[in-house]
Amino acid sequence: MSEYLLQMTGICKSFAGVHALDHVNFAIRPGKVMCLAGENGCGKSTLVKIISGVYTRDEGEVVFEGNPISKITPAEATRLGIQVIYQDLSIFPNLTVMENLAINSEITEGKKFVNRKRWEATAKEALSKIGYEIDLQAKMGELSVADKQLVAICRALLFNAKLIIMDEPTTALTKREVDALFKTVRQLKDSGIAIMFISHKTEEIFEISDDVCIMRNGKNVYAGPTAELTRQDFTFHMTGRELTDDHFVPKNISKEPVLKVEHLCQKNKYQDVSFELRKGEILGVTGLLGSGRTELALSLFGLGKPDSGTITLNGQEVKITSPIQAQKLRIGYVPEDRLTEGLCLQQPIADNITLSSLKRLSKAMGFLRHQDILDDANIWKEKFSIATDDVRRFASTLSGGNQQKIVLSKWLSNDLDVLILNGPTVGVDVGAKQDIHHLIHELANEGLAVIIISDDLSEVVVNCSRVIVMRDGSIVGELTGSDIPEEDIIEIIR
Ligand SMILES: Nc1ncnc2c1ncn2[C@@H]1O[C@H](COP(=O)(O)OP(=O)(O)OP(=O)(O)O)[C@@H](O)[C@H]1O
Ligand SMILES: [Mg+2]
Repeated sequence: MSEYLLQMTGICKSFAGVHALDHVNFAIRPGKVMCLAGENGCGKSTLVKIISGVYTRDEGEVVFEGNPISKITPAEATRLGIQVIYQDLSIFPNLTVMENLAINSEITEGKKFVNRKRWEATAKEALSKIGYEIDLQAKMGELSVADKQLVAICRALLFNAKLIIMDEPTTALTKREVDALFKTVRQLKDSGIAIMFISHKTEEIFEISDDVCIMRNGKNVYAGPTAELTRQDFTFHMTGRELTDDHFVPKNISKEPVLKVEHLCQKNKYQDVSFELRKGEILGVTGLLGSGRTELALSLFGLGKPDSGTITLNGQEVKITSPIQAQKLRIGYVPEDRLTEGLCLQQPIADNITLSSLKRLSKAMGFLRHQDILDDANIWKEKFSIATDDVRRFASTLSGGNQQKIVLSKWLSNDLDVLILNGPTVGVDVGAKQDIHHLIHELANEGLAVIIISDDLSEVVVNCSRVIVMRDGSIVGELTGSDIPEEDIIEIIR
């Protein structure tokens, strides 16, 4: 018997005009964590969808537990013990935890009658497998992303999974939740289950994986033990270039603040928040989940009315009551959850990018020239290496990370005074992350005032010359300097 659980050789897959996978080889051993890494659009999710039977491969061989598998369908994948936890988690938000856990087996076993007792037993069994406790009657939609994920893992275990695939499971998790997830992953591993894990976060990959498979442009570039790679080798394999952490050096910070927030309060969200922001400055706002940082940002963008306090913009007190008004006041906001809040998937990439700069693009009498939209979109395609052959394709044809890039372009192409970025590089690969950082530095040095809200402390320290730390809705610390140590921030966060 082969030492591998799953072996794939010479896998090819094309979509109209795009070679997503070009003779990819991949193998995973039982009881090991294999990390699949590579730039946005290199084909990771496509490979996962071939393993799980969502897409059919054009070419290549698949061997599972020593047996060649000619055609994988989703049902066949489940029968073999392959379970995928997609980023959207494929849960039913309006059902309870118990119902979510029981529903699949009820359907596959062809049960016709609802038996609460049986459902409850199934659900309890699932949770006990990873020693996880949660209220079975809680509605799925109301759980945190981390809890949803654990429920999804429990559900996978109900199918006697031998291979669990997680496509970017940590993007929406905080550090603490990642630790909890990794604890579960180690438990699964000890019980002989193979885990395939997709992530863009170098530190996580080095922490959790035994083996790593790196892809670039649909091809394998490295496969082997993680321990044999340095972090530099790793990024080099991924991007084909050396990356440097260039700290932001503010060049011309304005004397007068462009934005002044005084004693701002929103009940149960944040209290007595005061700070100033100058042109040319990049201010970091960090804190644990629930610290009020996102709610504060939403209020500045007209999505959440403060109960008291004032906001002054360019010396004038303003009330920001809607995003449209915020935009008129030249404030932009890139939300955390871009895939649901920031994108029209069934619209061309070009239209998505130019959506908020239509005013700038429309010439006399408000007419829009189609070519101008395409030209503008192509500039951003180049700047961020957005992986598409044609900006007229729908946004839905882009990979996850490339979708993130178009939402960012949409706001960065706008003429603004204040830009608030919530987790600007979540889901974006390390190379693109650096490009985005450089661009933000440039925009700041041209006079834009930027607020970066982020959990990723390395991102905060590289970009911000001033950092505000929030806890339980209040500002609990402020750090200044061109090279703020991460440890200093951690000290205050908790
Ligand atoms: N349904 C589709 N139609 C057309 N092209 C597609 C489709 N799905 C994926 N692609 C293309 O295939 C390539 C690989 O995409 P894939 O989603 O596998 O990338 P990825 O490695 O998961 O990237 P990311 O890190 O951004 O999630 C991309 O160029 C993408 O645009
Ligand atoms: Mg993907």
